[in-house]
Amino acid sequence: MLEVSNLVVRYGPFLACDAINLSVKAGEIVGLIGPNGAGKSSIARAIAGLVTPASGSIHFEGVNILGAPSHMLIRRGLSLVPEGRGLFPHMSVEENLLMGGYSLINQERRKALMERCYELFPIMKQRRNQMVGTMSGGQQQMVAVSVGLMGDPKLCIFDEPSLGLAPIVIQQIGETLEGMRKLDLTVLLIEQNAKLATTVADHIYVISAGRIQHHDKPQALLQNPEVLEKFLSA
Ligand SMILES: Nc1ncnc2c1ncn2[C@@H]1O[C@H](COP(=O)(O)OP(=O)(O)OP(=O)(O)O)[C@@H](O)[C@H]1O
Ligand SMILES: [Mg+2]
Repeated sequence: MLEVSNLVVRYGPFLACDAINLSVKAGEIVGLIGPNGAGKSSIARAIAGLVTPASGSIHFEGVNILGAPSHMLIRRGLSLVPEGRGLFPHMSVEENLLMGGYSLINQERRKALMERCYELFPIMKQRRNQMVGTMSGGQQQMVAVSVGLMGDPKLCIFDEPSLGLAPIVIQQIGETLEGMRKLDLTVLLIEQNAKLATTVADHIYVISAGRIQHHDKPQALLQNPEVLEKFLSA
């Protein structure tokens, strides 16, 4: 579904990530983990059309999407739930959801997607008129995930959904991600929290200093002493 080849992202002279190769097949949950500043969000932003890569190619469902603007990518079925959530804090839950579904022409589909979000997170239905900025971090993350799903994506990229959340809420996020398999969604999960990724991902890319250092199934990574010490000890 997604093939990233030899991707290079630069900010001026600074090389944020180099020679990145990664692939996500339909129906998979794929992890991308690594420490602060490793280049994870740069990869996410490049895939979602928010930064222009210096070189490389990005194929989504067989089409080279490199350089395509993000609003076109949403229409193709690629959605990014950004680091920091990207919500409108002064708008209600429901208004945020509608913003997530703005690119959908079919009103019925938009309504059905909103219902699906409310089924996934019943608390949001109760709180649908609450201003998002007044919600807890965990609730806001649920809204952010839902806004991503409102674009009716085939592939959803989550950039650090667990950031700043309590372990119990992180566990809920994990369960939600598992639930996405049943919805026929494909997920690229970006995390510093290696534990969440090793719990839910089918396979994981480990990135550090702008380069993919390891790629394996979670069980194998958990048995690799070097990976354990450097990346999974936190
Ligand atoms: N707009 C920018 N201008 C200049 N440098 C940037 C910019 N965005 C990111 N960088 C740099 O690129 C490198 C990779 O950043 P990136 O945000 O991709 O890391 P990350 O793996 O997502 O880190 P974190 O886990 O802290 O979110 C960092 O050194 C960062 O300072
Ligand atoms: Mg980041």
